[in-house]
Parts: sequence; C-alpha cells; structure tokens
Amino acid sequence: MLFDRYTSQSGLSFANRIAMAPMTRCRADHRDAIPNDMIAEYYRQRAGVGLIISEGVPVSDRGRGYLNTPALWNEAQAAGWKDVTAAVHAAGGRIFAQIWHVGRISHRSLHADGSAPAGASGQRAKGEAMIAGPDGRPTRAECDAPQALSTAEVKGVVEEFRNAARLAKVAGFDGVEIHGANGYLLDQFRCPMVNDRTDEYGGTLENRYRLLLEVVDAAAGEIGAANVAVRQSPYGVANGMSPDPEPMLTYPWLAGELSRRDVGFLHIYCQTADWIHDATHPMMPALHAAFSGTLIACGGFTNAEKCEAILTRGHADLIAIGKPLISNPDLVERFRLSAELNRWDMKTFYAPGPEGFTDYPSL
Ligand SMILES: Cc1cc2nc3c(=O)[nH]c(=O)nc-3n(C[C@H](O)[C@H](O)[C@H](O)COP(=O)(O)O)c2cc1C
Repeated sequence: MLFDRYTSQSGLSFANRIAMAPMTRCRADHRDAIPNDMIAEYYRQRAGVGLIISEGVPVSDRGRGYLNTPALWNEAQAAGWKDVTAAVHAAGGRIFAQIWHVGRISHRSLHADGSAPAGASGQRAKGEAMIAGPDGRPTRAECDAPQALSTAEVKGVVEEFRNAARLAKVAGFDGVEIHGANGYLLDQFRCPMVNDRTDEYGGTLENRYRLLLEVVDAAAGEIGAANVAVRQSPYGVANGMSPDPEPMLTYPWLAGELSRRDVGFLHIYCQTADWIHDATHPMMPALHAAFSGTLIACGGFTNAEKCEAILTRGHADLIAIGKPLISNPDLVERFRLSAELNRWDMKTFYAPGPEGFTDYPSL
C-alpha cells in the first residue's frame, strides 16, 4: 500500500503514500528570505516522495522566529520558490508550501523594524527562537515577550496568510499547508491557557479556532480548499505549550469544521511518536471519522512496517516522515529495498551551507 499511487478525495494524485514532513533548515539569506539554488537542489533530491511539504515559510517579517528561513510575502520570494517547485515537478514530485506565523516564538532581532513578537496574549513563551550569533551563524535565544495582537491586527494576520497562499499559487506550489501546530501563532490561539482574549478570537473553542478557520477560508479562496492542508499537534507541548485539556473534543471538532469546508488534508503530528502507533488509541480513528479528506500521520515512522501498520488499520492515508528524509534523499527506494539508512546529524539541521543539507548520499 505504501508504495502504491494514491489519489486524494480531492483528486490530487501522488506517486506513493510517503510525504516529506515540513522541516525548517535555515539556508536562505535573512535579509531577503529568497530561496536559493541550494534549496531547490535539496528538494529536487527528495522528489521521490509522493508529496513534499516545504519547511515552514513565514508569511510576514513579524511572522519569523528563526534566522534565514525562506519566506513568502513578496513577488521576489515567490520567484525564488518557482525554481524550487519547477525542480520538484521536473523530477516527478509534488510540493506544498507550509505557510507559517511563529507568533510569540520569536525575538526582536529577527524583525526588520525590531518589533516584539506577536502574541495571542501578552504571555511570554518558555521557548527559544533562532537568532544570529556573534559569528552570524544561527544560535538559540530566549523568546522576547510578545505584544498581544489587537483584533484589527488579527484580521491583518488573515490577510498575510491569504497573500502567502496567493503567492504559493504564483510560485507553482501544488497546495499549501497551514501550520497550526507546535505552539506557533495559530496553536497559541487554540490553547485556552495561552489565549486569554476577550474578543471574538478568545474564550470558546469556536472562538479560539476562529483565526485558523478564517485563515483556511482565505487560503482556500486563493488556491482551492482541495489543495489546502492543516497541521495540528494533539497533546503537543513543544515551544512552551501545555497539552490541550480536552483533546478528544478539540481536535475532532476541528476535523469536522475542516471537513465541512472540503479541506483536502489534515496533518496530525504526534510529538512523542507514541500514541499514533498505538492501534487502541482513540485519536486517529476519531479524526478519520470526523474528516472526509486525506489524513496524514507523522511522528516516528522510521521504517516501512510502521507506515504499513497505520495504513492497514485505516487510521491514516499518507505518512509524513521528517528526520530520516534529511539524511536519506532516496528514502522511498531504501524503504522499498529494506536498505540501511544514513544517520542524520543534528549539528547541521540549521547550519548554513550544503553540509548536512544537499550532501547526504543516495544508494
Ligand atoms: C530540523 C527540523 C525542523 C523542523 N521544522 C518544522 C517546521 O518548519 N514545521 C513543522 O510543522 N514541523 C517541523 N518539524 C517537525 C517535523 O515536521 C516532524 O513532525 C518531526 O521531525 C517528527 O517526524 P520524524 O519522527 O519523522 O522526524 C521539524 C523537525 C526537524 C527535525
């Protein structure tokens, strides 16, 4: 099943059921945030997966929380991405842009105007941004205190995502994934502990997901709901989050709302790489029941057997794989042959240059 062609309910066809998980790699120049030839080559090498989901792509300068992330808020950035999507398509692959606003997981030094991070509230994150160190290389730094977005500014964020989805289409992406996971802005709005707002974006579950759903509608208006994915991380604690107090209510509710909008893809990331592999855990079946589109599972899928197991159970349609695809550009082939895998080197995850980026060998 894993290696067979898959056609989504929305009519997109993929060479196999393996997706590349979105992974920030910090290889652009922070000043213009335009993707370069090295980034195009990195994705071209990995185009054997059914679907590439790009690294997180900031939708605005203030939406950045990591040094050197290639972005998508202007035409020059879109032109850079056009070379990336062309390279992937020429190699027979498909690619979505993961559009991203980090919210409070940021630092003033990353923003051209020195502005404070944008928050759902004024609560400071116990988390780290990635800034320029004394030698100019990326280094971790405590997040700065955020400024709570005004209601008008929240509506401005929707427009930033709309613009990014428009530019994604210009750049030749097959779709967009809205980054709603891992403690970034849209996840901060979801969280009842972080979101203490009293306007229409805070309080009830419906209000806390209002921003995400407005972003979904805006993106769908630009690129088509069938080509929109939403990423969520149930039970997630990354970036200073507390787990959702009512996960079996929260996430199936969202899945139903996305289904009603004919959103093509729901991408679920299990940060602990455990419950998603547990056949008796209720989350994935509940999401599958509530969502009529393509369900993507991610977190600790380190071999073909683990992928086949969840597909066979019917608890997912596609499997997103992260770290093994950093170090194995030909991962699909290696899985098919049960070949040995290259080990990934964490030291070069965010380091500048080709080392640990485009120099991992294929079989
Ligand atoms: C270097 C690195 C960068 C990542 N950047 C992102 C990102 O930009 N957006 C995102 O949603 N997840 C990001 N993740 C999480 C991955 O998408 C994935 O969920 C995680 O690596 C678990 O999958 P794995 O067990 O197959 O590695 C990142 C992970 C790594 C290792």
